Amino acid sequence: MAWTAVAGVDELGVGQMKRISPAGRALLLVHAEGGYYCVDELCSHEDYSLWFGCVKGRAIKCSLHGSYFDLASGKPLNEPADCPLATFPTKVEGGRVWVDAD
Ligand code: FES
Repeated sequence: MAWTAVAGVDELGVGQMKRISPAGRALLLVHAEGGYYCVDELCSHEDYSLWFGCVKGRAIKCSLHGSYFDLASGKPLNEPADCPLATFPTKVEGGRVWVDAD
């Protein structure tokens, strides 16, 4: 475990996301329904940045071809994507949001 503080707890409203790079990985921290989630920034379909997508409920939508991904499991919810996103544990502690990107 290598927890890294990546945001203040009041920094992101629900539905907002932030590009982060703990341990040199390009990830997204997303504040969505149910809390904070961390996933790979690039879509598993064609490596398009999910930063350009949007958050709906507990899912993130890729704006290139429209696949949604469950933020908790990383699984695609519709085609054309058929591979999951990598997901990383998050926690809130001491007024900050932390990610374990190991
Ligand atoms: S690049 Fe994301 S669905 Fe195609």
